[in-house]
Amino acid sequence: MLNQRKLNIVPSYRVDNPSLDQEARKTAMRLREMGREDPLNFWAEMSREVDWFQSWKKVLDESNAPFYSWFVGGKLNVSYNCLDRHIAGWRRNKAALIFESERGESRVLTYQDLYREVNRLASGLLKLGVKREDVVTIYMPMIPEAVIAMLACSRIGVPHSVVFGGFSADALRNRLADACSRFVITADGGFRRGRAFSLKENVDRALRETSWAVEKVVVASNTGEAVSMREGRDLWFTDVLAQGELYCQPEMVDAEDPLFILYSSGTTGKPKGILHTTGGYLVGVHTTYKYTFDHREEDVYWCTADIGWITGHSYIVYGPLSNGATVLLYEGSPDYPAQDRFWSIIEKYQVSVFYTAPTAVRLFMKWGEKCPAAHDLSSLRLLGSVGEPINPEAWLWYYRHIGKERCPVMDTWWQTETGMFLITPLPGEESFVPGAAMHPFPGVEVDVLNERGEPVRGEQGYLVVKRPWPAMFRTLYHDPERYLNTYWKRYEGFYLAGDGAKKDEDGIIWVTGRIDDVINVSGHRIGTAEIESVLVEHEAVAEAAVIGKKHEIKGQAVAAFVTLKEGYNGTQELEEKLKGLVVSRIGALARPEEIFFSAELPKTRSGKIMRRLLRDIAEGNVLGDTTTLMDPQVVASIKEKYGSLAG
Ligand code: PRX
Repeated sequence: MLNQRKLNIVPSYRVDNPSLDQEARKTAMRLREMGREDPLNFWAEMSREVDWFQSWKKVLDESNAPFYSWFVGGKLNVSYNCLDRHIAGWRRNKAALIFESERGESRVLTYQDLYREVNRLASGLLKLGVKREDVVTIYMPMIPEAVIAMLACSRIGVPHSVVFGGFSADALRNRLADACSRFVITADGGFRRGRAFSLKENVDRALRETSWAVEKVVVASNTGEAVSMREGRDLWFTDVLAQGELYCQPEMVDAEDPLFILYSSGTTGKPKGILHTTGGYLVGVHTTYKYTFDHREEDVYWCTADIGWITGHSYIVYGPLSNGATVLLYEGSPDYPAQDRFWSIIEKYQVSVFYTAPTAVRLFMKWGEKCPAAHDLSSLRLLGSVGEPINPEAWLWYYRHIGKERCPVMDTWWQTETGMFLITPLPGEESFVPGAAMHPFPGVEVDVLNERGEPVRGEQGYLVVKRPWPAMFRTLYHDPERYLNTYWKRYEGFYLAGDGAKKDEDGIIWVTGRIDDVINVSGHRIGTAEIESVLVEHEAVAEAAVIGKKHEIKGQAVAAFVTLKEGYNGTQELEEKLKGLVVSRIGALARPEEIFFSAELPKTRSGKIMRRLLRDIAEGNVLGDTTTLMDPQVVASIKEKYGSLAG
């Protein structure tokens, strides 16, 4: 299918960098050399690009490892770095945000506009009584007000917790409760495929039975649909802005003060509150954005992630805006009103840097190359990918049909925990290996280890990060024990990423996917235990095991194996009920694609469910080792029944 000669695939399956210039090559070599020679000095140098109110005294404090501190003693403000320093100069009238609504309306906010709105909201929040010790929960669609809300919190030194708008009322309530938020910023709703959905209703539902007091709910108007506003508690976003002053002094916060919490799935039923602080995070996202995407003033940069995920935090808001970039924000879905929506947006705004996920690329592949071919994509100069391993076929399709063999592809590996890119090519690479995230970012050291902690080459092993990096999370909110046990216990002194990886003799790194009970559906992390605990809530369910099953577009799809209590039958109706229960407890993203009712589940002699075998069954693989099973017969009968249903 692919024209190998034209793509310049050399025998080791590399694609030559189509836009390599000597400047970019020199920059990549210089940064890598600096990072190798003295990583701490590298980050110290990089920190100069951030404006500090008070300089830091020490780059890294390891005395309480793995609770590291970066840029000790430094004082700064993130919104100052994203706004004030730009409006003081010529960027004042540069577009900061270009917003395209799903209905096709556009709104441009210059840095001056964004500055004014952020100041007003920040001041308005202070007047409402928001204090430094609060956590403000933000539950919004992809509209400029979401960015304004995040920056306003950072301006007054109050951490935010953004909850993805696709999460259900129950999921929102759990996150609100964990953070004990007294303040919520939301919107009436958002648009998806031409239909309005309500967010405010979910907030109302989430707040119905709370053991703590949410004092104020600030509601931005987006869909214009009627919402109920509770007297004394609910306020319109525009009214809070109107109450706010034109200038709100940016709070001088410590480098180690929290900037935000972001909840993410882990291997237990309870999401982890991943806590990021200020100074190191800003240095990390500023630097990685600048060099990985080869930031240029004239760029129009578009990242298709949602603000509710770490990608939205680091590479829609903080990284690009601290660099003074022009960021495109799109509210809706890629196939509304038609499957060429993304390409028409790129054409309309002459987007130059485009950052999306492999699941989206696979969807575009399915829709066919005619869609992008019908649009002028000549403004693009660089592409990015994030969220899961990009299969080489998708990489090449992206490279060829979107980048037209002109644009290098940055496959960026990172996590909510890492805050910033840790493994990624740079634009100055001589060639790329489709499907590989390639090299650690300068100043970052990673390795692939076997069970015994020895480095392995050419084989799959555990991905670890060998030294601290500035944008690393600092702990899990309220749960430092879990922080230690999940990430730092397996290999002393090294961060365990939870991913498998392979490193070849040239040092190229391939990240192959999660090695724990976390699955990746369309680039979103979902803990199997979270879904299982919802399923077993149902009166009919005795036990449940959830796995990620290979899926052509989503990467993985949720599949559940369920055993029922005496007296219940695995009917179609029950299957639908259980799926609905998952949607209402977590959100549509966790909805099982299939539920398989089984009399028993395969277990080890110690009673642990063997999810690996269930995955083999679901994917039709040859079954792995079954000798440790309590009753090997169970797995054989599930396989037979499953096979007959699938067949
Ligand atoms: O398994 C890896 C996968 O996504 C996980 C992190 O998920 P999350 O914290 O939700 O952050 C997603 C956005 C950064 C990782 O443990 N992952 C992310 N990017 C890549 C990837 N796997 C392979 N290659 C990538 N480029």
